[in-house]
Amino acid sequence: MVWIDDKNRLGEGRTHLTHIPRRPSRARIAALALACFQCGTPVSIEAPNSCANVADTQITGRAPACIRLIARDSSAASGFVELHRVASSPFTVSVDESGHQLFAPVITLANLPQPSALGPYSTYIAWAVTPDLARDLKLGVVTNGRTELGVVGLNQFLLTITAERSGDVTRHSGPSLLNGTSPSMALQPHDAPPITRAGTHTAMSMHGGAHDGSAQWVMPPMHRQVPQMAAGLEGLMPNVAPWMPPANAPTAAAVRPREVMTLNAGDSISLVAGLVRRTIAGRPVTMYGFNGQSPGPMIRVDQHARIIVNFTNALDQPTSIHWHGVRLENRFDGTPMATQPAIAPGGTFRYVVTFPDAGIYWYHPHVREDSQQDLGLYGNLFVRSPDAGFFAPADREEVLILDDFLVDEKGVAVPYGADAATHALMGRFGNLFLVNGSPEYTLGVRRGDVVRFYFTNASSTRVFNISIPGARLKLVGGDVGLIAREAWVSSVVIAPAERYIVDVRFDSGGRVALLNHIQGVDRFRGTFFDESDTLGIVTVASSTAPAASTFDRLRRNAGVSRDIERYRSRIAAPPDYTLQLTLDTAQTLPFELWQTLRNEVWPGTPVEWTGTMPMMDWLATSRQLRWVLRDSASRRENMDVAWRFHTGDVVRIRLVNDARILHPMQHPIHLHGQRFLVVAVDGDPMLNLLWKDTALVPAGSSVDLLVEMTNPGTWMLHCHIAEHMESGMHMMFEVR
Ligand code: C2O
Ligand code: CU
Repeated sequence: MVWIDDKNRLGEGRTHLTHIPRRPSRARIAALALACFQCGTPVSIEAPNSCANVADTQITGRAPACIRLIARDSSAASGFVELHRVASSPFTVSVDESGHQLFAPVITLANLPQPSALGPYSTYIAWAVTPDLARDLKLGVVTNGRTELGVVGLNQFLLTITAERSGDVTRHSGPSLLNGTSPSMALQPHDAPPITRAGTHTAMSMHGGAHDGSAQWVMPPMHRQVPQMAAGLEGLMPNVAPWMPPANAPTAAAVRPREVMTLNAGDSISLVAGLVRRTIAGRPVTMYGFNGQSPGPMIRVDQHARIIVNFTNALDQPTSIHWHGVRLENRFDGTPMATQPAIAPGGTFRYVVTFPDAGIYWYHPHVREDSQQDLGLYGNLFVRSPDAGFFAPADREEVLILDDFLVDEKGVAVPYGADAATHALMGRFGNLFLVNGSPEYTLGVRRGDVVRFYFTNASSTRVFNISIPGARLKLVGGDVGLIAREAWVSSVVIAPAERYIVDVRFDSGGRVALLNHIQGVDRFRGTFFDESDTLGIVTVASSTAPAASTFDRLRRNAGVSRDIERYRSRIAAPPDYTLQLTLDTAQTLPFELWQTLRNEVWPGTPVEWTGTMPMMDWLATSRQLRWVLRDSASRRENMDVAWRFHTGDVVRIRLVNDARILHPMQHPIHLHGQRFLVVAVDGDPMLNLLWKDTALVPAGSSVDLLVEMTNPGTWMLHCHIAEHMESGMHMMFEVR
């Protein structure tokens, strides 16, 4: 078997440093014959991580990742391993608190000889082994047929099946019969010499920072743990003019802290989007805010209330407000081209907002979110249920909006594209974490206090994996209300636009961190690394709160279950519609960028948690590539997809995230105006349901939504990565 990643090493006589076949992926079936796209040299790829038995279904994203097991010597034994998501996870991707993907392996074996044929052995055992062979994790006894095993939480691993004397051994010592590797082992160190940024960066003549009204390009810095970048990209700039709000704008006042506006049904408020002065990384910068605040005012209302928001656009560009997750009247949805024209600078619009569902929602502009929202235009809507027992008791409530902001090494904000979005490929990963607009979120509690956190992710592209070491986390709700069964979680995976509601008890005194802990990928070294950022500090006083007796109990929310029960028969039904989430790079990516991307191997990671390729990401603009929602039945794409429904329809939509593209990544898909259940991931049913408006579709996975079409109008469905949206990833559907 010739195993090559997509930089094959054919040796002598090659005319290129690397022959570049089309990239292998786990969707590929073994033994493909391909040709180097530069010179036509035949390149044979044996994809060891594919599993012939499931490869066909994998292509449509309906099966979990698969490892094909290779038998040693001439043994007739064969098998494969399906890597399922951990079924009990309430999230579409299962990870631990450090962001390691958790796999539930299911092994299918055939033609195993009697263990005694290999020596003095009585059983076969499956092991996951770290690539350095230092650690092995016993998965369990296996036999011919299908066996479900424990959970593996390693970034990369080998899988081996050995013959052993007894099922009780704790380390493997017998001969191995079958072997395989995790899909992530496809990641290999690059052999093309990367260049380090030191040296090139100071030589960049366009590296300015003085915002004197005409923005200059400021390069995004390298990721602090990945200092190399691909050669050939240095000196390139996005093909769009840089733009920032004017420095020293006379209308910009210093930003004020978020206010809470508690409204009664029928109240009117005025909301003004305008310029604010902020200090970011010690530097003054003009950004955006609502009523001089960022986050904007938190609007607290009762469920079913109706309020009037008299909106004024005091920005230097058109805008609108979208009430994310709120099932309101279509004409107030704030979607330009569909429900209203964008509001010109100086213009006004009167929004009438009604709140049919209790929980936590948010508002943001629906024009150029890549710049407007990133500059600070977002705020929460807190909708109170009339039911006093809606939530279990808590000692306090904290409403936190998570965000990240991108600055260079000197703390200068990286400008936006004037007429098109930069960062079209992966979205703009920031390097400065903000909680409610501040890099220094702090909270003081008493020991034993139960705090209910309402998290909203307002970042352009980052998926957070939130944990609080030393405290217990109980997931109680999310996008549109409560979860059917409360669940203990070790971390909260929250994609752009999602909300999660978590009760946390602080059992130990002292300072505890609110962490975002994930696994990054260093594509140059071919390795994974830990990235852990402190988003805030909770100081737990030694004084003890009266014990909250209900915290230890997991509630079942009968109302939610009853609501869902009506659709029980639909939960296992086939999809009515299938949307492929894919990428069209056919046109105009700069050659160097396209080339570098083709050199990349997708390591099977469901989520790109952090920006380790900042140059590659920055350079592609929304004019140079097109992210695509493709209706499988009609083959129509994006705004050409025109779905029609009737009120009362319950529609099952399968979202299939194509991993056979130049740069696979996750997409948080949002539907306006309706609510839905995430009923299956990779064909496996979700066990604990919750009404949502945004679902994270991991790379290479399929996610099935059951959408309740209750709210008439013309609505948008789109990816909530702001730059993907700018790159075309949106479509309309009509409910009549
Ligand atoms: Cu929060 Cu159409 O978006
Ligand atoms: Cu997307």
